[in-house]
Amino acid sequence: GRTVVVTGAASGIGAATAAAFARLGARVIGVDRNVPDGARDFVRADLSSSAGAAAAAEEVRALAPRIDHLANIAGVPGTAPWRTVLGVNVLGLRALTDALLPSIAEGGAVVHLASNVADGWAARVPQLRAFLSHADDAEALASVEDDAEVTGNSYRFSKECVRVLAQAQAAASLGRVRVNSVSPGPVSTPILDDFKRDHGTDKVEGAISLTGGAATPEAVADVVVFLASDGARWVNGSDVRVDGGLGAHRFTEAA
Ligand code: NAI
Repeated sequence: GRTVVVTGAASGIGAATAAAFARLGARVIGVDRNVPDGARDFVRADLSSSAGAAAAAEEVRALAPRIDHLANIAGVPGTAPWRTVLGVNVLGLRALTDALLPSIAEGGAVVHLASNVADGWAARVPQLRAFLSHADDAEALASVEDDAEVTGNSYRFSKECVRVLAQAQAAASLGRVRVNSVSPGPVSTPILDDFKRDHGTDKVEGAISLTGGAATPEAVADVVVFLASDGARWVNGSDVRVDGGLGAHRFTEAA
């Protein structure tokens, strides 16, 4: 069977992703700062820094020297301090992926959780690349600390970084491991209220009413599982919107 590492597996989309892989018979190793009661194959880790992610990777390797897939689902909303947002959503995610890529079997896959708030990433590629050019966490964070555009919109910036990172990692792993991202709109998880506080309740509730509800965590998990599957063997460096059509609506309305 396959071995899959799922970060953020204690809650929301991560928990649904872990359950979906487990239903297919995969061995799932969860990574999260919280560990569900009675969980087996679970690594408690703080993924908010490269150091924390590297320590998590060590523990994962001790449990499974070879893995097939890595699903980077852990993330924090923009109501968290901006350093934490960039730490968990970008720096920890990148460090865990870099540390585990050598353990991923040929033909394996990595899936990152981005967001449809990152749809404008292409307009900011130089800034995103500048942030990602710093290998050291402290240097990366220092490079944006005086930039209110970044610190005031840290969640959007973090998910735009994830889109660029997925493509960079896909390009670096061509023919060996595929790397894609998934971009949901609102999903009914414990952090949906934080998104309302961050992006505006009216805006988020308006989006939810347009699509006839928020996504269930399972609706996002199913796409993560698909991207890891053989059915997606030629999908690489792509982002898949899982937003009930919200992105299509915004694009069409803006015309
Ligand atoms: P959630 O809060 O239910 O799950 C996030 C998980 O990440 C939690 O189990 C949490 O403990 C873990 N986590 C957070 N910080 C951590 C750290 N420092 N170290 C280790 N684990 C940590 O939230 P949800 O909604 O399931 O979010 C999953 C991903 O989906 C996130 O990346 C989020 O940004 C993204 N997303 C969520 C949307 C939504 O509407 N819920 C919309 C678009 C994207």
